[in-house]
Amino acid sequence: VWARLTARYWRRPDVHLGAGSSAGAPALRAAIASYVTGARGARCTPDQVLVVNGAQQGLDLVARALLDPGDRVWIEDPGYIGARVAFVAAGAALIPVRVDADGLDVSAGERAGPGARMAYVTPSHQFPLGAVMSAPRRLALLAWARRTGAWIVEDDYDSEFRYAGRPLACLQGLDADQRAPAEAARVLYVGTFGKTLAPGLRLGYVVVPEELIDGVRAVRAATDRHSPVVAQDILADFIGEGHYARHLRRVRALYAERQEMLLDAARSELGGLITLAPDPAGLHLVGWLPDGVDDGRAAVAAAAEGVDVVPLSRSFLDPEARRGERGALLLGYAAFDRDAISAGVRRLRRALVAARHVASS
Ligand SMILES: Cc1ncc(COP(=O)(O)O)c(C=O)c1O
Repeated sequence: VWARLTARYWRRPDVHLGAGSSAGAPALRAAIASYVTGARGARCTPDQVLVVNGAQQGLDLVARALLDPGDRVWIEDPGYIGARVAFVAAGAALIPVRVDADGLDVSAGERAGPGARMAYVTPSHQFPLGAVMSAPRRLALLAWARRTGAWIVEDDYDSEFRYAGRPLACLQGLDADQRAPAEAARVLYVGTFGKTLAPGLRLGYVVVPEELIDGVRAVRAATDRHSPVVAQDILADFIGEGHYARHLRRVRALYAERQEMLLDAARSELGGLITLAPDPAGLHLVGWLPDGVDDGRAAVAAAAEGVDVVPLSRSFLDPEARRGERGALLLGYAAFDRDAISAGVRRLRRALVAARHVASS
């Protein structure tokens, strides 16, 4: 379908090859506004949507548009390294804030980082541990932002992949529902097509409060003007003609199956070496290692067997928090079919046997 839509555009005599808007192609912005409103409970107009080259550019733009060097930013710990580096590049002082089963601990943030200008959260499915931010925590975070005038950056990177239960509406929508008419919106919502379509497509979006539209657009125009126009037009058609919704339904079922395949393979091959718990959402599982097994070493051993896994310890900013946590590996499963998952798990077994041997010697 993508090839057909692409050909349709490039064959058209009037294909749009002039420069585009720094906010994005109008048709795509309208399609995104309608999608996030209908599927994610966001509240926005197409004017508030800025098309970007993936979530990473969204985080970078938001950081540069809203932060001054030295500004404090709360960041989930453990958390997403891509967000960390974007905020550091803007000169922010990062305040690691612990996460638990209810998501980011807002009181811990208030103690550790008073006066922060911004908080970065993944409330739908905390990266990497997977918690869904609870309703009381969401309300507390919004109340904090309103009280202090801070911004909340909501990274909704993989919310399309919820396999059980009803998806929770996003924080951006809750902010809109909660606030009084005179109160300003506090949430910048970042989404990506990197997880649902392909990371190499480099297309994502930021939904910004009305008062920030001009500022964020100006930073975008100064950075790289806009995302490639034809790719945006193709994506707008892909969504508008219903292919995106169909694709999401298909891959959601496929990735749920693949998670089952990984769990089955781990049950039969990896007993005693790593503990995987099912996750009702996302594209990866967290595999906890036995006490004493260093996850960095385990990841190196896995790489030597040709298996690419990420050690959980890398996601921690605060060294104390890292030391207090057991080692774990983040195992992506969505991109692999049954044969690749079985072969990968057998290789991982060899790596983990070797890592356990090192730990006990
Ligand atoms: C937490 C989180 N946010 C965002 C992204 C997506 O980034 P991008 O759209 O830049 O590929 C990822 C991808 O790995 C991620 O894990």
